[in-house]
Amino acid sequence: MLEKGKFYGVGVGPGDPELITVKAVKILKEVEVIIAPHTEKKIESTALSIVRPYIGPDTTVLELVFPMIFDKRDLAGAYEKNTSTIKSLLDEGNNVAFLTLGDPMLYSTYIHIYRLLEQTGLSIETIPGVTSFCAAASRAGFPLADGNEVLSIVPATNDDKKLENILRNSDNLVLMKVYKNHRQVVAQLVESGFSENAVMISRCGLDGEEIIYNLNDIEERKPDYLTTVLAKKGMKRL
Ligand SMILES: C[S@@+](CC[C@H](N)C(=O)[O-])C[C@H]1O[C@@H](n2cnc3c(N)ncnc32)[C@H](O)[C@@H]1O
Repeated sequence: MLEKGKFYGVGVGPGDPELITVKAVKILKEVEVIIAPHTEKKIESTALSIVRPYIGPDTTVLELVFPMIFDKRDLAGAYEKNTSTIKSLLDEGNNVAFLTLGDPMLYSTYIHIYRLLEQTGLSIETIPGVTSFCAAASRAGFPLADGNEVLSIVPATNDDKKLENILRNSDNLVLMKVYKNHRQVVAQLVESGFSENAVMISRCGLDGEEIIYNLNDIEERKPDYLTTVLAKKGMKRL
């Protein structure tokens, strides 16, 4: 009987192709198929461009489209359809690596595929990656948390009441997905004492990287999708 393939969720780090684990590179060189999730087919997925130097000539690369839709039922349909494509590849004996920007277990498409495939009993292994906020903290020289300080990781797409509560109870913040409502988020940071010691980083480790230390300098223009804000309560320590 044909042996089924193994499924790997591979974290590729936030952008710099050198910020990928030795284990991830080894797996990318060994698998038959590499899958890069994508919202649309027009431009190459960022995760795929990061790992290009590690892909051999005989590896099949498949860009699967996961459209940016907010209707939960349509979204579930897209996950099921793509999971079924992956399952067929595994059933045919291919080892498959699914790429994720940063770490696979943090706000990712992989989590949805993982949950669906987990139920099939197929063999799965997740390879962690350097998260975008860890890379951003190192790049900007901005320690994330020290001693007993509380660090909250928050998608800025949350409603402002929920964010208000988190701001009240945190010493340090990682705000992800700030592209949507950055003006409102910055206003909330100013109000709750987080704006004096903050940094906004876009496209960390990628072309077009931008680091802004003064939140007042943030322009009206929408930031890049790959933008993270790090902030500490209180004044800057000298
Ligand atoms: C869907 S989440 C993916 C998180 C990813 N799994 C991780 O471990 O960082 C997308 C968000 O991650 C952050 N992000 C990912 N890559 C980034 C980068 N290179 N520079 C800054 N922020 C980044 C942004 O906040 C973006 O909106």
